[in-house]
Amino acid sequence: MPAKGVTRDMARAVDVVVVGAGVIGLALSWRAAEAGRSVVLCDPHPGEGASWAAAGMLAPVTEASVVEAPLTRLGLESARRWPAFAAALSEAAGGAEVGLREEGTLAVAFDSDDRRQLEQLLRVHHSLGLTSEWLPAADCRRLEPRLSPRIRGALRVAGDWQVDNRAVVRALLTAVSAAGVTQRRVSVRRLIGNGSRVDGVELADGTHLAAATVVLAAGAHSGTIEGLPAPARPPVRPVKGEILRLAGDPADPVLEHTVRASVEGRSVYVVPRRHGEVVVGASSQEAGFDTRVRAGAVEELLRAAVDLVPGLAELELVECRAGLRPGTPDNGPVLGRTPVAGLVLATGHYRNGMLLTPVTVDAIDEVLAGHDLPEVAAPFTLERFW
Ligand code: GLY
Repeated sequence: MPAKGVTRDMARAVDVVVVGAGVIGLALSWRAAEAGRSVVLCDPHPGEGASWAAAGMLAPVTEASVVEAPLTRLGLESARRWPAFAAALSEAAGGAEVGLREEGTLAVAFDSDDRRQLEQLLRVHHSLGLTSEWLPAADCRRLEPRLSPRIRGALRVAGDWQVDNRAVVRALLTAVSAAGVTQRRVSVRRLIGNGSRVDGVELADGTHLAAATVVLAAGAHSGTIEGLPAPARPPVRPVKGEILRLAGDPADPVLEHTVRASVEGRSVYVVPRRHGEVVVGASSQEAGFDTRVRAGAVEELLRAAVDLVPGLAELELVECRAGLRPGTPDNGPVLGRTPVAGLVLATGHYRNGMLLTPVTVDAIDEVLAGHDLPEVAAPFTLERFW
C-alpha cells in the first residue's frame, strides 16, 4: 500500500524524467520529446532561476584560459552550433526570435595594467588557435562611440556572441509544450531507487513517477536532491551573481557590441539587446543559496559600467536580481551517466549555461540513445572528480 498522501504512479514508467527546467533541462526535454521519448519535466518555477537572471553571453573566448582548454573547446563547439539551435528553436516556438547577435565582444583596457593583461590574454588566445585582434583606442571608439574617452584599446573577439536569455527561455517553454513534454510544476522531493539504480522520483505532492532514466539538470541545486547516492553526487555549489537590467532606447542604442572590462579592479560586462535592454553584470560571491541583492554589489556594478560607458547613467534602472551559478571544482559541466544505473547528469554549467546548451543537448541525446558521450563532451563526466 502506498503511504498516506502518496500516489503510486510507478506502473506507468516514462522514458525520461528531467529534474530542473532551466535552459538545460528545458532544451534536453524538448530534444528528447522530439526524438519520440515520453518526457516529464519537473520544476516548481520553470525558467525562473539562473537562466532568467543570466546575461545571455555566448563567450567561449573571453572566458577562456589555458588551464581550461577542454572547456574552451566545448564552448567553441557549442557556439558553432548556436545558429542552427536558435533556428530550430525559433521554428519550434512558432517563429519566436531568440535574439542571437553576432557582432562580437570588446574586452576593453582601462589603464596600462589592463592593457598588459589583455595583451597576455591575446597571446593565450593565439596559443589556443583563437582569432582575436588588438584594437587601438581610436578604432574602439569609432566602433563604439559611447565608450569612455579614458579607454586604452580593446581586444576584439569576433566569436563571442549573445542571445536574449529570456527570449530563449520563453521559446523553450513553448517548444516543450508543442513537443508533448509533460510539465509538473512541483519540486522533486527525492530520487527513488536502491542505491545502485534510480527508478524514478517522488514529487513534493507525493506523486511517484517511474522512469527508465532520470536526468538531473537542477543547476546549483543538483547536489542537494534527497536520495541521490553519494557516488553519483555532482560536486556543484552555488555561486551568486548579482545582475542589473537597464532600459535603453532601441532607436538610439548605447552599444552594438557586448563590452567587458576590469575597471580599477571591478569586473563588469555590458550586454546590449536590440529591443533596448542593457544588461550589466555580474558579481561573483560564494554565499550558499542566498539570492538577496546587496546594495554594495549594485553600486559597484553601476560605477564600473558608467565609468566604461558614461551614457548608461541616463538609463532607467529596471531590475536588480541575483542568480545562482552551478559552480564545479574545475568550472566545467558534469555530463553523462553515473555509477548509478538510470541516473544521468546535465549540470554544473557555472558561467556558461546559455553557451553550452546546444552541445549539452546533443551530448545527452546520445546518452539517452544508449551511446557514449561525444568526444568533445567526454572530458566532462563525473568520473574526473574521483
Ligand atoms: N556568464 C556570465 C556570468 O556568469 O556572469
